[in-house]
Amino acid sequence: MKINGGIPLKGTVKTQGAKNAALPVIAVCLLLRNGTLTLDNVPDLYDINTMLELIKDLGVEIEINRDEKNSQVIFKVPGEIKWEVSETLARKMRGSSLLLGPLLASCGKVSLPLPGGCSIGARPIDLHLKGLKQMGADIEIQNGVVHAKINGRLRGRRIYLDFPSVGATENLMMAASLAQGETIIENIAREPEIDNLAAVLRSVGVTVELEGAGGVRIQGVEKVSSGCERVIPDRIEACTYILAGVMTGGHIKVEDVVPSHIDAILAKLEESGANFKVKKDTVEIFPNKKRLHPVTIKTLPYPGFPTDAQPQMAATLALAQGVSTIEESVFQARFLYAQELNRMGADIKIARDVAIIRGVEKLQGANVKATDLRAGAALIMAGLAAEGETIVEDMVHVWRGYEAVDKKLKSLGAQVELL
Ligand code: UD1
Repeated sequence: MKINGGIPLKGTVKTQGAKNAALPVIAVCLLLRNGTLTLDNVPDLYDINTMLELIKDLGVEIEINRDEKNSQVIFKVPGEIKWEVSETLARKMRGSSLLLGPLLASCGKVSLPLPGGCSIGARPIDLHLKGLKQMGADIEIQNGVVHAKINGRLRGRRIYLDFPSVGATENLMMAASLAQGETIIENIAREPEIDNLAAVLRSVGVTVELEGAGGVRIQGVEKVSSGCERVIPDRIEACTYILAGVMTGGHIKVEDVVPSHIDAILAKLEESGANFKVKKDTVEIFPNKKRLHPVTIKTLPYPGFPTDAQPQMAATLALAQGVSTIEESVFQARFLYAQELNRMGADIKIARDVAIIRGVEKLQGANVKATDLRAGAALIMAGLAAEGETIVEDMVHVWRGYEAVDKKLKSLGAQVELL
C-alpha cells in the first residue's frame, strides 16, 4: 500500500464484524447435524474466508448474502461431516485450532494439523488439549497432526485453565456443549468474543451461564438445534481507526462501537490528553491542539489492555511528548514492528518485554514491511501521519483482519493506493 501521509483523517467510518468473534462462532456449525446456523455481520476477511473454506471442505454447504447493510452467512450442515481437517488450509491460520473441540464432540474423532498464524511468539495449544483430555479424549500428536478420539460422548467436568486462554476457553465451551452432563470451566478468558460465543451456543439450544469472576457453566445436550446470531463489532478494528484519527490530528467518528469493549484503550487515550467523545455506539475524535502526554501500558487478558492494540498504540505514542513504555505480557515476540517504525523516524527501544517509546515530533515516510497483522495496521497508521510517501509491503497480513482498509481510509480523505 502506498500512502501519501500528513493528511488529517476526516469523516465517518463503520466498524466491521469482529474477526476474532466470527472465527469461533463459525466453528459452532460443526456441532449441528441436519440443521442450519445463520450468522449476521460476518466480516469479509482472509482469515474468515480460510475458515469458510475449511468448513466447506468438511462437507458443510455455505450460502453468503452480502450487501451494504449486512453480511450474512448461512451454514447448512448435513447428517454427516468429515473429521479430517485439510493441512494446507489449517496451516494458514491459528484460528483453525478452533475446529478441534466441535469436531471431536460431534464426530467422536478428529485429526487436525497443528495450526499456523501470525509470527508473534510461541502459540502452543496445550491448554486446549489438557481440557479435552480431562473430558475423556484420547489425544496423540504425530508428525505435526493432532489425533483425538472419544469413546461415546465427552464427559462434563470441572476444568481449571492455567491461563485464561481465549482459544482454549472457546474450544472447551464448544466441546462441552455436546458433552454428557455439566461442565464448569474456571479461570476462563472474559473477552467480549466469549460472550458472543455463549450467545451463539444458546441460540442452538445449549444452556450457558457465564459467571462474573471468570467461570462458565455449560449443560451439555445430545443434539443442538438450528440457530442464528449476530457477530459483535470488531473492537480492535475500531481502535485502529480511533488511534489513526488521533495520530493524524483528524476529526473522525467511528460507528458501531461497543465503548465498554474498549475501556482500557479509551482510558489510556484520556490519560494521554486525546480529545474525544464517547456516545452509545460511537467514538468521535477531535483534533488535538497539543501533543499527547506519554503513558505507561501493560497488555493483559480482558478487561486489561489488549495485546492486539499494542502495536497501534505504540505507533500513536511514537508522536507523544515524552517517554512512554508498553510492557507486553501476553505474547513473546510482539515488537517486530518497532524496527520498521524506527525506519520512519520513531525512537523505540526494546528491552525484553518492554518497548520504551521516546516521542518524536514527526515521522517520515519510508518503505516498511508488515511483519504481522497488527504490526501492519500500526505501519499504515504511521504512514498516514508521516510526512511524505510510505510503502507498506506484505499487506497480505493486513487483509487477514481489516476489511476494505484502502476504501475505508480513502473515505476518510487519506491518499492511499494498493500497488
Ligand atoms: C486470541 C486472538 C488473538 C489475541 C489473543 C490474546 C483469535 C482468533 N485470536 O488468540 O488475536 O491476540 O487471543 O488476546 O481469537 N497459550 C498457551 N497454551 C495454550 C493456549 C495459549 O500457553 O494452550 C498462551 C499463548 O502462547 C499466549 C497466551 O496463552 O502466550 C494467550 O493466548 P490465547 O489467549 O490462547 O490467544 P489465542 O486464542 O491464540
